[in-house]
Amino acid sequence: MRLTTNSILLLELAATALALPASMETNKNGGPPRPNHARAHHVKSAFVTSWQGYYKNAFPHDTLHPITNSYEDDRDGWGVTVVDALTTAVIMGEAKIVGQMLDHIAKINFTTTEKPDDSISLFESNIRYLGGLISGYDMLKGPMKSLVRDSSKVDVLLKQAESLADSLSIAFDTASGVPDPTVFLNPTRRISGSSSNNIAEVGTLVLEWTHLSDLSGNKKYGELAQKGESYLLHPTGSPEAWPGLVGSDVSTKDGSFLNSNGGWSGGSDSFCEYLIKMYQYDPKTFAEYKDRWVLAADSTIAHLASHPTTRKDLTYLSQYSGSRTIPVSSHLASFAGSNFILGGVVLGEDKYSKFGLELTKSYFNNYKQAPSGIGPEVFRWVDGALPAGDDNAPPPGSQQAFYAKSGFYTTVGSYILRPETCESMYYAYRLTGDTQWQDMAWAAFQAITNVTRAGSGFAELDDIMQPDGGGFIDQMQSFWLAETLKYLYLTFAADSEVQLQLQAGGKSQYVFNTEAHPIKVRG
Ligand SMILES: *[C@@H]1O[C@H](CO)[C@@H](O)[C@H](O)[C@H]1NC(C)=O
Ligand SMILES: *[C@@H]1O[C@H](CO)[C@@H](O)[C@H](O)[C@H]1NC(C)=O
Repeated sequence: MRLTTNSILLLELAATALALPASMETNKNGGPPRPNHARAHHVKSAFVTSWQGYYKNAFPHDTLHPITNSYEDDRDGWGVTVVDALTTAVIMGEAKIVGQMLDHIAKINFTTTEKPDDSISLFESNIRYLGGLISGYDMLKGPMKSLVRDSSKVDVLLKQAESLADSLSIAFDTASGVPDPTVFLNPTRRISGSSSNNIAEVGTLVLEWTHLSDLSGNKKYGELAQKGESYLLHPTGSPEAWPGLVGSDVSTKDGSFLNSNGGWSGGSDSFCEYLIKMYQYDPKTFAEYKDRWVLAADSTIAHLASHPTTRKDLTYLSQYSGSRTIPVSSHLASFAGSNFILGGVVLGEDKYSKFGLELTKSYFNNYKQAPSGIGPEVFRWVDGALPAGDDNAPPPGSQQAFYAKSGFYTTVGSYILRPETCESMYYAYRLTGDTQWQDMAWAAFQAITNVTRAGSGFAELDDIMQPDGGGFIDQMQSFWLAETLKYLYLTFAADSEVQLQLQAGGKSQYVFNTEAHPIKVRG
């Protein structure tokens, strides 16, 4: 999941060595990926604990407050934890939990919100609710069908997906067809009237809406999302910083770009991610998406790859503002490793996979170095190739020694149970079969569960620079179950139809949406 409403620079304002292997060869490996059943079992136990804590204290509301054993309805009260966690329960083979989830999903009324004037995020509803529904449908109609005896309960998933998309489709009623970021259903159906939207929110619909058209036979959904996306593929207005690296915001009036800022963090991230994932979905139809990804990937390697002065062995991705780069990055951006690995595999271009492994190892360095064993929300470093200045400043005195050994310093120390670093390690393991990646994922799992286990579930942290995480934020967001625990589980689980096949000759049957919901590829 990607938090996109704030750029990471705004997040900062609001909040105030691992040895590299001798070689980064993508095929210097231990052969095909192998399961580790004991570790997979521990991850599954963490999922069951999380679900039970939610089910007892928060069901069928959106989000558990694990410390106070209460809840909030922060995703329109439809029960986002149920829908978002469904595909993980399916993959783990938890039939009883799947049954509890399907019973609730059948009762959701996606045509309204209980609260009047409750704002609905098109993007979040798409990646969590719509993605969960269609992916659950794919798997329960396909390889995991034995989990549910009464197949009419599975048919409900597709009906509910159409109902939700019909409600959300008013977002596209703008002058250009670039969707409004926010819709309302109660007391009247309407959009917010925003003059702009960001490219992550516009560009992270096309996979789910295209697949919904394929499943339902109703072309409308894919056409709406592809029309919005067309402005991102053929940019006008504020120029690209480099080929393929577009600005972060577009006008809903005419689809033109409103700035030339961006990077692989919130606000832009999953736009780039979906360019290559559409090609994985159907390489014939979405070749143009692939061409745009290649431009962005090559410009990223040429201009955004940055090495800290104290740890030249590390590679982080800078943000950009026009042709100026800023050495700042985020936990969200640590998914980039996985996306470069995927691009390298589907294009047969080793240079992208190698770069993806380099990024994955570097962003895991943040876990390795932080006192809690978990990487920060936002961090900075000094890039010796750039002029000194406010955007390229040395660490505060309190973090000088830390920066000298770690190659980064923390500017926002929270950890909200995010998946992206584990996501990249999953791709790295499926690519290489090298158990060092499983060991890194296991270290991350142990650190995360050690420090965040609290009350009736797992809680978000205030400050990963403290060994104990610096105190809890009383929330367990749905992506902990949907993504973080799913990627960790798949890293240790046996091969199956939904596992990514990233080694030579393999063809994946599923493409993972940005919320880790596997979508069946075309063909
Ligand atoms: C869903 O909500 C709408 C609007 O309040 C209502 O008209 C409809 O009857 C509800 N549907 C179900 C199945 O409860
Ligand atoms: C987790 O906690 C256990 C028990 O306190 C400890 O032995 C272990 O080293 C911790 N692991 C990590 C990765 O923090």
